[in-house]
Amino acid sequence: GNSSIVVALDGPAASGKGTLARLISDHYGLAYLDTGTLYRGVAWLVMREGGDPADRERAAAAARDYAIEKLSGADIRTKEVGAAASVVAANSEVRAALLDFQRRFAETPPKNAVGAVLDGRDIGTVVCPDATVKFFVTASPKTRAHRRWLELIEARPELQESEIYQDLLERDARDAARDDAPMAAAQDAELLDTTHLSIDAAFAAARRVIDGVFRRCG
Ligand code: CDP
Ligand code: CDP
Repeated sequence: GNSSIVVALDGPAASGKGTLARLISDHYGLAYLDTGTLYRGVAWLVMREGGDPADRERAAAAARDYAIEKLSGADIRTKEVGAAASVVAANSEVRAALLDFQRRFAETPPKNAVGAVLDGRDIGTVVCPDATVKFFVTASPKTRAHRRWLELIEARPELQESEIYQDLLERDARDAARDDAPMAAAQDAELLDTTHLSIDAAFAAARRVIDGVFRRCG
């Protein structure tokens, strides 16, 4: 069980989890872990060596050897790395190799923080089932594709929004359909649809939920 405060944020790509996680981390003084970077990092390490992310042994080995220092200079935010991340993420050995680090981060957050906020796909269901507060963040696929397109066009002006849209749908389907720790809302998660919410409005809604839980817990 967790003795520290844990805020869990799960949801599909570009729903706004990371943005909320960062704001929550600053506001409440919680350490932040973007768990997607772990899967993106493993995928990037496999691809850098010319490996296939679907090669189960190779991806598992990369996950066991994973270290943040190995990613210095890596551009892991590309759509190609995102797609490969969801392939390695369906590999149970990869997930098992990354689990301890995530749990330790939540239970004993760095820098003596009073707690942690983690975002991903399985935080409320598998990584931290006892989290203090859980959110499942969503937005319509069109909205999410548009947001991701806006983030990527500067570096890749040739990218079409329709291509991003297809990519997100494919990745969401793979993430929701896998056997091990599929993307899912925990039963006790607060659903937060950000389709028509500004970042400020989404953050205000999240704060209301968190403050309510903190008041009840004392
Ligand atoms: O972490 P996740 O992939 O769920 O999404 P994100 O990186 O937090 O958000 C994706 C993009 O949508 C970012 O550029 C955010 O600024 C933007 N966003 C937004 O426009 N409105 C929101 N309510 C939330 C995020
Ligand atoms: O930022 P975005 O939502 O596009 O993706 P991400 O959070 O960086 O995650 C990339 C991929 O890693 C996801 O599509 C999942 O396949 C995988 N992932 C996962 O399986 N479990 C997590 N807790 C976090 C990410």
